[in-house]
Amino acid sequence: MGQVNIIRHGAVAVVTIDEPPVNALSKAVREGLISAMQALAADAEVAAIVLSGGPGRFIAGADLREMSLPPEVPFLPDVVAAIEAVDKPVLAAIDGAALGGGLEIALACDVRLGSRHATLGLTETRLGIIPGAGGTQRLPRLVGVAQAISLITAGRVLAADEAMALGILDAVADEDVLGDAIRQAPGAIKRRVSALPLPARDGKAEDEMAAKALKGAKGVPAIAEALRVIRAAGEGDFTDGLAVERAAFLALRESEAAKALRHLFLAAREAAKVPGLAGVAARPVARTAVIGAGTMGAGIAVALADAGLPVALIERDEAGAQAGLARAAGLYEKQVQSGRLSPDDAAARLARVSATADWAVLAEADVIIEAAFEDLTVKREIFARLDGIAKPGAVLASNTSYLDLDAIAAATSRPQDVIGLHFFSPANVMKLLEIVRAGRTAPDALATALALAKRLGKQPIVAGNCDGFIGNRIYAVYRRHAEYLVEDGTAPQDVDAALEAYGFAMGIFAVSDMSGLDIAYAMRNRRAATRNPAERYVTIADRLVEAGRLGRKTGAGWYAYDEAGRKAVDPVTEALIAETRTTRGITPHRVSAASIQRRLLAVMANEGAKELAEGVALRASDIDLAFVNGYGFPRLKGGPMFAADQAGLTTVLAEVEAAYADGGAGSEPAPLLVELARSGGSFASWRA
Ligand code: NAI
Repeated sequence: MGQVNIIRHGAVAVVTIDEPPVNALSKAVREGLISAMQALAADAEVAAIVLSGGPGRFIAGADLREMSLPPEVPFLPDVVAAIEAVDKPVLAAIDGAALGGGLEIALACDVRLGSRHATLGLTETRLGIIPGAGGTQRLPRLVGVAQAISLITAGRVLAADEAMALGILDAVADEDVLGDAIRQAPGAIKRRVSALPLPARDGKAEDEMAAKALKGAKGVPAIAEALRVIRAAGEGDFTDGLAVERAAFLALRESEAAKALRHLFLAAREAAKVPGLAGVAARPVARTAVIGAGTMGAGIAVALADAGLPVALIERDEAGAQAGLARAAGLYEKQVQSGRLSPDDAAARLARVSATADWAVLAEADVIIEAAFEDLTVKREIFARLDGIAKPGAVLASNTSYLDLDAIAAATSRPQDVIGLHFFSPANVMKLLEIVRAGRTAPDALATALALAKRLGKQPIVAGNCDGFIGNRIYAVYRRHAEYLVEDGTAPQDVDAALEAYGFAMGIFAVSDMSGLDIAYAMRNRRAATRNPAERYVTIADRLVEAGRLGRKTGAGWYAYDEAGRKAVDPVTEALIAETRTTRGITPHRVSAASIQRRLLAVMANEGAKELAEGVALRASDIDLAFVNGYGFPRLKGGPMFAADQAGLTTVLAEVEAAYADGGAGSEPAPLLVELARSGGSFASWRA
């Protein structure tokens, strides 16, 4: 039977699923389980059945790759029905993850035993769907409707003890859960969860849980559907509830949001796989250091300390070092105040951070991350000095946002150890970590960076060295085209409103005001000499800065801000924009929200296509991860490359051509986009 094996222990049959690595519910597993159940039901010598996922496992859930294809029989509800149909007790022996469909299978069993390593949860809503094989109907019969609402809408994963306390597990085995199950099986009785009465309803608790779920839903349609379907468990009989659930599941499964969330889930797992790194061991990392204890340096130090790593903060002088330490302490203080961290935990973490102006301590660090000023001369000086101090094999990283990593690496005698670790602000919070591979970065230095990202709980993406790397390079094009729209006649607040309607938490001009217009201004000035003179350049942002309007911190930028920080459209900005249009001889024309969205998405995907062709990004899904985790792109839209595939690349190309007509040099259609549009290809299936 391949993925499903049966072994007999007297009158007890042990059915073991063997589908590495996590026992996902592939078609083969579903078929195997059904035929095992049918065979054992008919076997007079079998008195009881134990279902096992083998050591350390149970069933981690649906096979996500299959879920993106047309459904194939047998379906999961058929498996669940086959288990319930056996007229002999079926015991689940759970020694690992019983998630999603895996828990639904366990819920179809008559007894559930867990080991200390068991984890249980109906996690489907995280992927924009709901349980589709009875989970929403069976779980309430064990834990009550209110608790089921809480667990399912949050997609919570329970440890064995919690699951036991809630009545989802019947027992937790101290040592050998499979052995316990085999011993108990002969005395077990048939007890179908579907036949249990629903525990007494608690309307108030249900309403509270529902309100909480909707508040956290962030527009995920699956949450409201989960609520409706779980409540249906209390209304008709069990089979009616199943039918309601199945219909909702099937509709959600095909929804754009669920497709996007599945895409991102798979993308996240794919991102850490880098060609050529198989079998390359990461270098050991026990001690770390950060040079430059400003906004980023302090945040990076906190991220390292959070992961249990000792970190030395290095500054130019002792006062700077102490200020950096105070900055790190402040970040912990905030977490304590908001109740996210206990004072003791904060103190323990902060104790891992030391600060000094004495570079000698750098000799002990296995990874050194530079986060000093964004200035090539400064960074090259720092790396040259580091070269004389760092231990052999230490990874020398820079947090640079735009600078040429090869030029930084060339300041040392060990370019193989130099890499970019581009954190996002606030560095201890933002999930994205862009790992930049310079021309001579050694494979094991890259492996070390990937291992570090995992240890920090970050989402890594690997980028090649270029101006702005994967994320900022696309962001620059996005911003440029947003400014073209404004100069051509659309108001900044209309651009922002269109972006927010699309799902961005904030529009691009509001974001600029928040970050401070001076930062981008300084960058534009620095790069003025190397900018393509033929590129269309909008001066509005420069003029705002020159008028002292640096954004929120000065009370005005693209918008005006009141004392409470509320923004409003500002006539001064409007006048400045109008003046610019007149000077340039532009007859203003406004465009619709839909056109704004189409345009800005198209230019992002177009720049992404250039990155793919150049090898700056390894795959389109890495670009999607960057934008969703680092730039506020709506998760439910799956990222710019995914969104482009959904829109159809012919449509996207037509929009890019229009953008080229408006933007000119620097906005040329990417040859890869042209080729994919012509051949009917997609970014998702493109490989270098
Ligand atoms: P910052 O100005 O807040 O901090 C820089 C710190 O480096 C200052 O405390 C300064 O005293 C120190 N420093 C400068 N030269 C030094 C030297 N030779 N030795 C020791 N310390 C030195 O700057 P911020 O915003 O933290 O940026 C740091 C780096 O991170 C830059 O390369 C920047 O491009 C990059 N970055 C910044 C992001 C942001 O949102 N602010 C996001 C991602 C990267």
